[in-house]
Amino acid sequence: MGKYTPHIKSENIKIAETILLPGDPLRAKYIADNYLEDVVQFNAVRNMLGYTGTYKGKEISVMGTGMGMPSIGIYSWELINVFGVKNLIRVGSCGAMQKHLNLYDIIFAMGASTNSNYASQYNLPGTFAPIGSWKLLDKAKKVADERNIEVHVGNILSSDIFYNDDSEAASKWMKMGILGVEMEAAALYMNAARAGVNALCILTVSDHLLTKEETTPEERQTAFTKMMEIALELAE
Ligand code: HPA
Repeated sequence: MGKYTPHIKSENIKIAETILLPGDPLRAKYIADNYLEDVVQFNAVRNMLGYTGTYKGKEISVMGTGMGMPSIGIYSWELINVFGVKNLIRVGSCGAMQKHLNLYDIIFAMGASTNSNYASQYNLPGTFAPIGSWKLLDKAKKVADERNIEVHVGNILSSDIFYNDDSEAASKWMKMGILGVEMEAAALYMNAARAGVNALCILTVSDHLLTKEETTPEERQTAFTKMMEIALELAE
């Protein structure tokens, strides 16, 4: 018997303890097709494609999350609490928020600040700081160092808003040293923290909020390859 949730139906196909999570389900398919061996598809509900395979002999899964914290919140919660996933690695893109960053740079999100209300469900008597797993972060940094891939490690912003009516909002986060903006990591980190499992968000810079530069699809692919080299090594 397969396992079923409202959003993931895996017909007798195991989801590995380590999963890579791109936002775009077609990215998940690309990763499965190009990097994994012995691949089987475990999900197609809402076209949120998910696959399990091996990388260098180690079992690993990959699945899209969709955009935004409600979407990654649903998928990561089910992967963790129903399917027993232990290591969740988001592989995404972000808009750079500091001058010293360039297009295609790689960022490891040590922390994920947020304007989202996601943490309110925990009824904490204070403010929660969503952070990446030290185990995954340390391992990822070692892999990057071994391969001479430069990475930036620090705080990012997980925003609920792509088209923000408040034109001053970004500059306020920039003053706090936020490296880049994306829309998913904070919810992923909170779900992982609540369940006692590991999560890390790795990003490539796809656009720059200060210089307004944008990447081309070809250039994005090259940057993506470097990020994938690191993320795939996190399979256990
Ligand atoms: N804003 C929010 N999310 C993003 C961006 C951005 O500029 N770039 C890539 N993901």
